[in-house]
Amino acid sequence: MSKQFDVVVIGGGPGGYIAAIRAAQLGFNTACIDEWKNGKGGPAPGGTCTNVGCIPSKALLQSSEHFEHAGHHFADHGIGLKDLSIDVSKMLARKDQVVKQNNDGILYLFKKNKVTFFHGRGSFVKAADGGYEIKVAGAAEESITGKHVILATGSNARALPGAPFDEENILSNDGALRVASVPKKLGLIGSGVIGLEMGSVWRRLGAEVTVLEALPTFLGAVDEQIAKEAHKAFTKQGLKIELGVKVGEVKSGKKGVAVSYTTAKGEAQTLEVDKLIVSIGRVPNTIGLNPEAVGLKLDERGAIVVDDECKTNLPNVWAVGDVVRGPMLAHKAEEEGVAVAERIAGQHGHVNFNTIPWVIYTSPEIAWVGQTEQQLKAAGRAYKAGTFPFLANGRARALGDTTGMVKFLADAKTDEILGVHIVGPMASELISEAVVAMEFKASAEDIARICHAHPSLSEATKEAALAVDKRTLNF
Ligand code: FAD
Ligand code: NAI
Repeated sequence: MSKQFDVVVIGGGPGGYIAAIRAAQLGFNTACIDEWKNGKGGPAPGGTCTNVGCIPSKALLQSSEHFEHAGHHFADHGIGLKDLSIDVSKMLARKDQVVKQNNDGILYLFKKNKVTFFHGRGSFVKAADGGYEIKVAGAAEESITGKHVILATGSNARALPGAPFDEENILSNDGALRVASVPKKLGLIGSGVIGLEMGSVWRRLGAEVTVLEALPTFLGAVDEQIAKEAHKAFTKQGLKIELGVKVGEVKSGKKGVAVSYTTAKGEAQTLEVDKLIVSIGRVPNTIGLNPEAVGLKLDERGAIVVDDECKTNLPNVWAVGDVVRGPMLAHKAEEEGVAVAERIAGQHGHVNFNTIPWVIYTSPEIAWVGQTEQQLKAAGRAYKAGTFPFLANGRARALGDTTGMVKFLADAKTDEILGVHIVGPMASELISEAVVAMEFKASAEDIARICHAHPSLSEATKEAALAVDKRTLNF
């Protein structure tokens, strides 16, 4: 006899665990199944984000930033340091501890909200009555049913053809987060979000880092002016970024990895490195879910097909997060999880794709929401632009971190904010103001007229809004 639930969630990443908590809050008898194992074989809910994504990468970015500050910036403050060193195993142990706190936190939240947690793999099994059940294969095997099922099975790293991940020399995000010592030479394929974040970590710790990118433009999805400024900053820091390359054969051996590639000018080259991180995007994950048993529709990329409300082709089966269309971001997965739980409860769950912020946690940080200048031009939309450099911001000068700018794009006639783009200190935090403003359909003038604390980085946001009408006060 199978255990019966109102809502069964498969996947305990940000999409799944948040959907389960919200469903339980709404009064549903809810189960969440997740198969991730910690080093001891125990449960480690939180998915890619908690275990090998957002959280551990930010922990290492923090450690490596401290190291860089100690080595390069402390002296400016009159702070002397002798014999600076990095204990990589301690840094990794701290990162693992941060991950564990998050795993434990989710298990606590499940208890608090009365979500029944199953540790194991969930897969569809066709039932005798023509419907389906969910088999959970964990320490024991059991069968459960849900009136509603939410699929949140996430994504996996994409490998280069002919160069599978061995997590020793050729690393996905997983291996990239547990390199045991600082490699002398590190190669990265793909100058996207992971390439820049992980490249920054190991460069700060002393690796010579080369990034090979197929596209001729740097960060094509980012506002061009912002991407140019970021490219300048990363190059100055010593990240070697080669654009427009065609990667060929990858050979891995005892001495490291050799990558054959053709440069943008058509020259044949070989990059020899100790370790290679391949960060060329991620693929939706339905491994083990057994979608074919129940006729669950996937698209040509392997993503579960859903409508605007996250409904799949099967009645009462929903899907959210990386396994469906849209940006592969933890907060997008969470918003979809909440919206689906609320729709199941008959409420009007809503996700606004126009106001999902993006952040790249490099130094300088890059953050944006809404449309880029090149998108507005392509759409033929009449707009006004305003920028304000951190160089003219008192708090940034006091911090000693004046790289970058805030940029506002507003409708030429109505002044409605269409996009905000930031490269610079704490861009990840500053972008929230722009997200709120855009959700409330604010104008640039609205931000320009709001009192911002002095001295604060957020004054650069106000000034950029003023710059839209060429009225900056401090520049
Ligand atoms: P996932 O987090 O992938 O979770 C899916 C879960 O389902 C996993 O635990 C998996 O084991 C489990 N599962 C899969 N199939 C089954 C099954 N059949 N049965 C049981 N369990 C199953 N996003 C951000 O917004 N900010 C960041 O800073 C950020 N940094 C990142 C850094 C890196 C290195 C990487 C790789 C990603 C990063 N992301 C970041 C992206 C973010 O991790 C994902 O967008 C997010 O994890 C997606 O959540 P999800 O719930 O859809 O899937
Ligand atoms: P990405 O899509 O950000 O970047 C991949 C890059 O690889 C692109 O620039 C692409 O042109 C390039 N590329 C593709 N094939 C190539 C090839 N054969 N040779 C050379 N270059 C090639 O993907 P990435 O960095 O793997 O990250 C995956 C996703 O994870 C991100 O898109 C994002 O959704 C999420 N993520 C989010 C973070 C954040 O929010 N801060 C941090 C890290 C990941």
